[in-house]
Amino acid sequence: MDLGLAGKVAIVTGGSKGIGKAIAQELAGEGVDVAICARDRRVLEEAAKTLTAATRRRIVPIVCDTTSTKSVQDLVEATVAQLGRVDILVNNASTPGGVVTGPLAQADDELLLEDINTKVVGYMRCAKAAAPHMQRNGWGRIVNIGGLSGRRAGNISGLRNAAIVHLTKTLADQLGASGITVNLVHPGLTRTERTDAEAERRGSSNAIRRIVDAKEIAQVVTFLASTKAANITGVAIDASGGSIPVMFQ
Ligand SMILES: NC(=O)c1ccc[n+]([C@@H]2O[C@H](COP(=O)([O-])OP(=O)(O)OC[C@H]3O[C@@H](n4cnc5c(N)ncnc54)[C@H](OP(=O)(O)O)[C@@H]3O)[C@@H](O)[C@H]2O)c1
Repeated sequence: MDLGLAGKVAIVTGGSKGIGKAIAQELAGEGVDVAICARDRRVLEEAAKTLTAATRRRIVPIVCDTTSTKSVQDLVEATVAQLGRVDILVNNASTPGGVVTGPLAQADDELLLEDINTKVVGYMRCAKAAAPHMQRNGWGRIVNIGGLSGRRAGNISGLRNAAIVHLTKTLADQLGASGITVNLVHPGLTRTERTDAEAERRGSSNAIRRIVDAKEIAQVVTFLASTKAANITGVAIDASGGSIPVMFQ
């Protein structure tokens, strides 16, 4: 199946490592030029070099902190200046697992606000800056990376993953008339370069009995970003290999 992605331009936030880097590589493999952003310039530039060598596409590293509106506006402007357009936005940048993970008595409200600022408001900031470029072309894709703490209580920082499900459906309804779809992918515990043996074991307690690799999350995201997924919008997809015993109908 030709995904119809050749010649498109994507922004992947948090594209210097882990799932974001795998998404940038998968998109580039389909002929997409990609701007990757993160805060650490050295790691970001190294990732861009590796991805360019692996895919022969233009991979542009742009330092950006998604907690800053100005920084996000600069990211989108720099992408348009260097790659000519923005067709796809993958909102992925955050601290995996969140930073407020203990009991209520130890919950730090400033840290929780930081989590929400990065993942919820950060995703909205990037969508707000990128959407006008997609609207002008009458086509666009926004894919938000969530986490299954959005479907399973127990971790206070998990509320950010529930909030972005709401954001996803709301933006899908607002932007659909402009040819823009907005969807969300929930990874479970996923193999990235920082996965250790214990995480590998925990990640294998899902229905498919093996941890999901970042590349497999990237493949789902790439399909949702493609021309072939025009009829899917406003949904949240569990891509964890069946790691929680609940049904959504
Ligand atoms: N890995 C998992 O098992 C798993 C499971 C469920 C959900 N997720 C979700 O998947 C996404 C990626 O996780 P990951 O495991 O790939 O994380 P990771 O390896 O730690 O990578 C996170 C990326 O986000 C960037 N980042 C963080 N805060 C940022 C900010 N304020 N502005 C710009 N960039 C920022 C980081 O670079 P800098 O630090 O240099 O900025 C890095 O590039 C996250 O949304 C996470 O919650 C992951």
